Amino acid sequence: MRRAKISVIGAGNVGATTAHWCASMELGDIVLLDIPATEDMPKGKALDLMQSAPIMGFDSTITGTTDYSDTAGSDVVVITAGIARKPGMSRDDLLSTNAKIMSSVAAEVKSSSPDAIIIVVSNPLDAMVQRALVVSGFPSARVIGQAGVLDTARYRTFLAMELGVSVEDISALLMGGHGDTMVPMPSCTSVGGIPVTQLLDQDKLDSIVDRARKGGAEIVGLLKTGSAYYAPAAATAQMVEAIVKDKKRLIPCAAYCENEYQVGGYYVGVPVILGSGGVEKIVELELTEQEKSDFQHSVDAVKELIVSMNQLLGE
Ligand code: NAI
Ligand code: 2OP
Repeated sequence: MRRAKISVIGAGNVGATTAHWCASMELGDIVLLDIPATEDMPKGKALDLMQSAPIMGFDSTITGTTDYSDTAGSDVVVITAGIARKPGMSRDDLLSTNAKIMSSVAAEVKSSSPDAIIIVVSNPLDAMVQRALVVSGFPSARVIGQAGVLDTARYRTFLAMELGVSVEDISALLMGGHGDTMVPMPSCTSVGGIPVTQLLDQDKLDSIVDRARKGGAEIVGLLKTGSAYYAPAAATAQMVEAIVKDKKRLIPCAAYCENEYQVGGYYVGVPVILGSGGVEKIVELELTEQEKSDFQHSVDAVKELIVSMNQLLGE
């Protein structure tokens, strides 16, 4: 059986760790690409990862490169290229630099892997994934952003810590943009099937939601030299798995919403069914008035980001 070909563009913290998770989950053969200025770094990381295979017992190959021809014909391309946050920076501070990087990477992916499904990770996420859609010209089902799996995992982690239960028993959903406006959905949060509102009072739940919203900044503040990468990479690997194994996972991703939720042509975090076709369905929930208003606030923030990006790019 042919193994899936998974290329990861940007061999930094998130990219290399995504390659690590994908290899250990045996999701396919992996190509790790970075810019020529990084010389042999991607090759070094790929070889180091390959040498963990006999110990961990996986048969995926990992190749490091600075040449897009090595990524040709990829089934999935994960884009993590770009600069990351340092303390005091917001995700939006990355806009100008990363929009130019995303434009060049998406153009390369378009010509080297025209049938691939693209998963964008670079920040600011909701703008970068829109940029990848425009430049690649791929159908929107094949251009997806990673944010919701991570944000929801943070929320689930904090709930499990508070309740003293296994993370496996927490099922939850956050929607909206990847930023401070993300929208928690307590009505879609349960613990072993029990609605979370029966286990935690509103104040406690609000403080957990607030911590999840600021989860990225909390890690930046602790690391001081960059942003989170273990959980973001694990979230990305879960999306890759859903695609290469056609699992039809129902998970939150940044998906292009036209009429869905009346978004009007922007990427925003919504529940989707993710399988071999990419976003196979955007699941539309009945939102409460509060959720509708929070979601609209988040969509408005994404729209502002796109306007700023297009101004910076002169478009
Ligand atoms: P990093 O600095 O460790 O790695 C970025 C890599 O991209 C570097 O190795 C750099 O050489 C490479 N790069 C830059 N321009 C490139 C180009 N044109 N082509 C190929 N490679 C290029 O940064 P890290 O921590 O890996 O973060 C990467 C991005 O992911 C950042 O924008 C960060 O904000 C974002 N991020 C997004 C998350 C999400 O949930 N969506 C979570 C965590 C990070
Ligand atoms: C995070 O949420 C920085 O977006 C990145 O950790």
